Amino acid sequence: MTTQEFVPGLAGVPAAESAISYIDGAAGILEYRGYRIETLSEKSNFEEVAWLLLKGKLPTRAELEQFRTELRARRDLAAPLLTLMRALPREGHPMNALQASLAGLGMVSPKVDYRDADSSWEAILRLLAITPVLVATFERLRRGDDYLAPDPELNTAANFLWMLNGERPKPIAERTLDCALLLHAEHTMNASTFAARVVASTEADPYTMCSSAVGALFGPLHGGANERVLQALESIGGKQNVDAWFAKKRASKGKIMGFGHRVYKTKDPRAITLQRLVRELFGELGTTPIYDTALALEKAVVGALGDKGIYPNVDFFSGIVYQKLGIPTDVFTPIFAMARVTGWLTHWQDQMKHNRIFRPGQIYIGKHDQPWVPIEERG
Ligand code: CMC
Repeated sequence: MTTQEFVPGLAGVPAAESAISYIDGAAGILEYRGYRIETLSEKSNFEEVAWLLLKGKLPTRAELEQFRTELRARRDLAAPLLTLMRALPREGHPMNALQASLAGLGMVSPKVDYRDADSSWEAILRLLAITPVLVATFERLRRGDDYLAPDPELNTAANFLWMLNGERPKPIAERTLDCALLLHAEHTMNASTFAARVVASTEADPYTMCSSAVGALFGPLHGGANERVLQALESIGGKQNVDAWFAKKRASKGKIMGFGHRVYKTKDPRAITLQRLVRELFGELGTTPIYDTALALEKAVVGALGDKGIYPNVDFFSGIVYQKLGIPTDVFTPIFAMARVTGWLTHWQDQMKHNRIFRPGQIYIGKHDQPWVPIEERG
């Protein structure tokens, strides 16, 4: 390639050919393997969708059962990993704990040979099965509870809630979290997926890759936006304060978390489905006042910035869902991560099929042939 044009943020520059997921940002369409996200969130579930992404086709009943059995068989934490988790500082952020414990998981797992299908599948299963357990376990340990063994009868979402709370979740809670996981499972070449593919391209193992991708997801411009949305909604203090809050934010040129997207120039289809989940949850569990604040903020932001393509993204309503499920605010982004592990691993499989290490260029704008100045002569 001879082009010397610098594209900040690599906006629109293809980093891979991929048949995993597809976004039409103008029309607000998201598909996984050609299936619309609305169809999947109505008819499917997180584990079936994980299979769809990883295998490229919907599973048969037998394949899905086998997949579920394989996941359930891998959820228990190895003793050295639990020791590591007990040693992590409780005051730290759960995303840092997840990054550290995913690296730890790699240290207690069999070595991965990406050329070997069985070895690769084993690593995929372990990462899918254990990541939610790491998130739930850190939350338990930091609040002073002990490790709770997984329940082998439960699916990923229900087992996560079980491990977090020590009681079997209500069907509405399980269904809602399951759908939220499905919505977050994959999203083309976002920052954490790109980071994952860069790490994978060095032939680092998938545990290292996922740990690195968690770091990329943590930032407030990416997955870290969801906890900040809730903090902002709470700090506004009621829908009557929205206009004043928004005016102040605009005057300081601050970004409103949960709005805007590199690809979508309309409302994110995942936000639309999350809003449906909010309404369903409220129907059973009662409303949350910050939802009214959120609706007022959406109206204000879209009214002022809709022409620029600024609409709610996936992070805008997810926090309201998780809060209603009793999940602490700083666990929102780890939940994003335990879903997105699916996408990272699917991209890992693709990357390793025709791997070439990522090594982009740069446009050098510095000096050349500088004369050497001895230290005593420097000003
Ligand atoms: N609030 C106010 N203005 C915004 C926002 C926002 N949230 N997002 C973009 N803009 C404005 C921005 O100021 C810029 O205006 P101008 O052209 O006048 O300078 C214009 O829109 C383009 O913004 P950008 O930052 O250059 O766009 P980008 O494609 O580089 O960034 C983004 C995309 C998602 C990082 C950005 O919209 C943003 O920072 N949003 C807030 C953080 C957030 O909600 N992140 C979650 C993203 S979705 C899920 C995920 O990936 O995790």
